[in-house]
Amino acid sequence: MMTINEIKGLIDRALAARKHAYAPYSKFMVGSALLCADGSIYTGVNVENASYPAGICAERTAFSHAVAEGHKDFTALVVAGGPEVGGNAVLSRYCSPCGVCRQFMSEFCGRDFIVILAKSREEYKMLKLGELLPHTFSL
Ligand code: THU
Repeated sequence: MMTINEIKGLIDRALAARKHAYAPYSKFMVGSALLCADGSIYTGVNVENASYPAGICAERTAFSHAVAEGHKDFTALVVAGGPEVGGNAVLSRYCSPCGVCRQFMSEFCGRDFIVILAKSREEYKMLKLGELLPHTFSL
């Protein structure tokens, strides 16, 4: 169970990170924040590339950031993304993780892992990874 304050704090981190998204091609800026079991938080942004498929989504950046620092147990992820550019733009839509990111998350997270899609710290919806990817691939 996450408290409202934990949720809002995690959304704040994702929205703050989003300002650093590197999306000169799509202009679709995404920020994410990943809460680890020990309470630490790692952020991610989408990082695009002139060779389009070489770019990476915000969610995978956040997971890679956390794994590189030694984390493998995760509680929740916030995703905040949209075409709005600039500092404190209020997002007009929910940004749902792409299929590749869902599979990437499922490497580390079970069905109950919380995925929060946020437009602002007041407007968000909470899903579980099991709802987003019911039949994950595993070896
Ligand atoms: N993107 C993300 O970072 N996360 C998502 O959940 C969906 C898409 C990025 C990839 C690309 O840089 C841009 O959004 C447009 O597809």
